[in-house]
Amino acid sequence: TPRVFSGIQPSGGLTLGNYLGAIKRFVDMQEQGIETIYCVVDMHAITVWQEPDALRRQTRELAAGYLAAGLDPSKSILFNQSQVPEHAQLGWVFNCVARMGWMNRMTQWKDKAGKNAEKASLGLFAYPSLMAADILLYHATHVPVGEDQKQHVELTRDIAAKFNNDYGVEFFPLSEPVIEGAATRVMSLRDGSKKMSKSDPSDMSRINMTDDADTIAKKIRKAKTDPEPLPETPDGLEDRPEARNLVRIYAALAETTPQAVLAEMGGKQFSEFKPALVDLAVDRLAPISEEMSRLMQDPAEIDSILGRGADRARQIATPILQRTYDIVGMIRG
Ligand code: TYM
Repeated sequence: TPRVFSGIQPSGGLTLGNYLGAIKRFVDMQEQGIETIYCVVDMHAITVWQEPDALRRQTRELAAGYLAAGLDPSKSILFNQSQVPEHAQLGWVFNCVARMGWMNRMTQWKDKAGKNAEKASLGLFAYPSLMAADILLYHATHVPVGEDQKQHVELTRDIAAKFNNDYGVEFFPLSEPVIEGAATRVMSLRDGSKKMSKSDPSDMSRINMTDDADTIAKKIRKAKTDPEPLPETPDGLEDRPEARNLVRIYAALAETTPQAVLAEMGGKQFSEFKPALVDLAVDRLAPISEEMSRLMQDPAEIDSILGRGADRARQIATPILQRTYDIVGMIRG
């Protein structure tokens, strides 16, 4: 039976990339009636320094983003990672299964640690092993993510396969990344060759889920483009990264395909396309940001939703960790 797991780091505000690449897909999968488990991965966030108060606020804000976007705690399990200690426990077992060389090849590690790996935390290096534990602790079969997480989900499969092989069991499933839709890699609004990211120094490069209508409008109006009108078909976007990005964002927000967008918009100038994109973006995003600020007024309610979610998560996680310990040879008295 299919079971979905995914997570997002509370390491800053949510961007349109997180929404289109992840959260919106989480909601779609919830609505398909599959068992869905969504996590705020606070233990991953501290692999780089987080101010404690900021971490608390960002954890609640991300939970509010989940809820405002349509995740429903009666249909999905919503919780923060640190409340289910089995993640760390299984993560340790996987630290002993995974190899240093595997971690060294991760592009996110290379990007984040850069040339100064000596100064990176040990946790940042082991990050993908904890992510494998997140997924496999629930025997999740499907993992909806943006394109940038594909390599980590593939590593999760490698860890599952090596565990199964080392211990001669068929215990952990080979989880599938689910990377679907028009916006699996949303790019910066200022530079079509860079990913839209919460860590970009320029706020104009991204749309934040907390931006108000005027800010969204300004950012889209100022987004980098080229002087040509839109092409009639997607192959006309090949050497036009900025134009392609805006068409994909439009398609994802409108829940259609780039083909369908261009069938309607092909031949139009950006002076016409951008206002249409502003209207669509404001229409889809403003209600979410309003609901997020409403929810943020009652942090105790958010905390209790996460607490109840954690209890439900543990009911699945505990027997799987216990079985793992038995396989490995740990004694229980
Ligand atoms: P994180 O927190 O960086 O991002 C959360 C999700 O948002 C997607 N995403 C994007 N999608 C499209 N375009 C973008 N510009 C963009 N930016 C971010 C990411 O692909 C991701 O799906 N390691 C993960 C968190 C994690 C996790 C897990 C995910 C921890 N444990 C278990 C799945 C399963 C991360 O850093 O995502």
